[in-house]
Amino acid sequence: MATRDLERFAIADVLHFEQGPGGLTKAVITAQRGSAEIYLHGATVTHFQAKNKPPTLFLSKTSLYQPAKPIRGGIPVIFPWFGPHPTDKSIGQHGVVRTMEWEVSDTASNDNGSVMLELECRSTPETLKVWPYEFYIRYTIVVGDTLDLLFEVHNPNTAPFVFEEALHTYFNVPDIGKTEVHGLAGTEFIDKVDGGKRKHQQGPVVFTTETDRVYVNTPAVCTIHCNDQKIASVSKQNSLATVVWNPGREKGNALADLSGDQWPKFVCVETVNAIDHKITLNPGNQHSMRCTIVPA
Ligand code: BG6
Repeated sequence: MATRDLERFAIADVLHFEQGPGGLTKAVITAQRGSAEIYLHGATVTHFQAKNKPPTLFLSKTSLYQPAKPIRGGIPVIFPWFGPHPTDKSIGQHGVVRTMEWEVSDTASNDNGSVMLELECRSTPETLKVWPYEFYIRYTIVVGDTLDLLFEVHNPNTAPFVFEEALHTYFNVPDIGKTEVHGLAGTEFIDKVDGGKRKHQQGPVVFTTETDRVYVNTPAVCTIHCNDQKIASVSKQNSLATVVWNPGREKGNALADLSGDQWPKFVCVETVNAIDHKITLNPGNQHSMRCTIVPA
């Protein structure tokens, strides 16, 4: 989106656009109650900090900022498939929109001191090659004491389509070894580091090694704790899966955009519809998934 087209969405003293690393454009929000940075590349929120609280989101120091690569950290957006491509493993994982250039469609400064940025993204000839449906997505980000994310997928085709989606949130934690995720006890999960076996969660999720799990039927609030202190909570609407991921030492350091022993500094608790909870969307309909992040 050309800079001159973006200028009409700026709000004096509250929201402006600037170029970040790699020349990628980001919205910089400094609302009364919180601040944030959002790249149009992948609609990736890379920073959120409520007033008088520490930054909530982890962003890798070695993230790439290249058009073909997702940003490592913050909240990459995943659509229309989660994990490997449904039929062709040579196509990259986690869909197409996390590396697309999104458009700004609206901004607003709200009476309660929060600021709204609305982004949109449409199918292109390139996306149709790897997923044969037209789509339109509107993503509304509200920055205040909390970070509120509304992800709306529209089906403009004449046939239904089936999709998966995720808001792949990386949370800052002081030490993954002392981190716990509460809110999933008693639920079933697919253990991606144990051949996809289905297991049951007992107590909070703790991290002793690589952890990559898809919790199914999990609409409830999750809270992240470290050193017995609450860090943040994630509540959601119309999301039935929750993914919990930390790559551990070996895999974390093997990822060039995460290398340098950064792996103990984050946990991903993702708001998802995938696997058991794929969405079938009829022509002309829309599906909305919402996630609210509340720093402690
Ligand atoms: C998680 C997946 O959501 O994302 C993991 O469950 C994956 O399997 C991780 O490794 C990171 O994926 P990527 O493509 O961003 O490296």
